[in-house]
Amino acid sequence: MNQLAMTESSSAAHSEDAERDNVVPEPSEQFVLTPYVEQVTQRALTYLSVGYPVHFAGPAGTGKTTLAFHVASKLGRPVTLIHGDDEFESSDLVGRDSGYRRSKLVDNYIHSVLKTEEDINTLWVENRLTTACKRGFTLIYDEFTRSRPETNNVLLSILEEKILNLPKLGRHGEGYLEVHPGFRAIFTSNPEEYVGTHKTQDALMDRLVTLRIDHYDRESEVGITRAKSGIGRSEAEVIVDLVRELREMGASRHRPTIRACIAIARVLVHLGAHARSDDSVFQAVCRDVLHTDTAKVTRQDQLVVTLKLDEVMEKVCGSKARHSRHPNGSHIQRKENEHA
Ligand SMILES: Nc1ncnc2c1ncn2[C@@H]1O[C@H](COP(=O)(O)OP(=O)(O)OP(=O)(O)O)[C@@H](O)[C@H]1O
Ligand SMILES: [Mg+2]
Repeated sequence: MNQLAMTESSSAAHSEDAERDNVVPEPSEQFVLTPYVEQVTQRALTYLSVGYPVHFAGPAGTGKTTLAFHVASKLGRPVTLIHGDDEFESSDLVGRDSGYRRSKLVDNYIHSVLKTEEDINTLWVENRLTTACKRGFTLIYDEFTRSRPETNNVLLSILEEKILNLPKLGRHGEGYLEVHPGFRAIFTSNPEEYVGTHKTQDALMDRLVTLRIDHYDRESEVGITRAKSGIGRSEAEVIVDLVRELREMGASRHRPTIRACIAIARVLVHLGAHARSDDSVFQAVCRDVLHTDTAKVTRQDQLVVTLKLDEVMEKVCGSKARHSRHPNGSHIQRKENEHA
């Protein structure tokens, strides 16, 4: 009997992709390890080492994602990153039937007869969560409340019974998979954010150790602003103090964030301008970057951000700010030409 078996797979590449998605994180040169970061990292590592998943919850720009990567790097295992998404279904997390495997049996024992048998099996293509559970990777599930609660249900048994339920795998295997003992999970979410997020089921929240993350202390913000922009200490302090004052004044007390400090500092360094109240470029950049937080509020036909800047500049820089009432970027342009 002369048998020729051929197999075709339309989807083997997907599993390889899932493997390739994993990285072992290393801190960049710009990462700032402050006492606060160290302390939160140690707390998180304690819970993770006992086997509990950790959840960093806090407002935008408080360093949750950065912390998650830092903690993951300490675990020394490859990291699987998933971003929460409203469109996700659980199959996007664990996998799905996709493509098929076709085995062809050509029996030409009697060469006048060509007998062809085709046996088509669906193939299970695993997604990132399954790979992480199987191989014992560290899962970072960033902004997990953006996924729908029913999508995240699959995590319940993973976190508690250390079993991944794969009902659709029944045809191919046992329908469940034991989670590798090295598997760890780090979640992040922003409880202040309502648009595009879902209320998490109590059962999932109950399985996570939630560490509340708030804005960095002043010293950490100065350090991060410097590291991310290359600006000098005293100027970083002016920017950070300005942003922190505005944050305190704001209705939500969460904005502007460290991202605004970094953005202002980077632009100043780029333009060769300085964080001083008499520097018109600094004034213009502050208005542009800080605009969104107070943009719509006006008082006596002036943007409140402009008035607040006057106030805060005076406080932070110790002198009355003098600047244009018509923010149109002309200062930035002029300075750029001067440096050209
Ligand atoms: N320890 C740190 N060292 C250097 N940069 C940091 C550090 N922590 C945070 N940052 C920087 O601060 C900014 C905000 O951090 P990150 O993105 O981690 O915040 P987040 O809380 O995840 O924000 P969001 O809720 O908007 O996703 C980023 O530009 C990040 O690179
Ligand atoms: Mg984040």
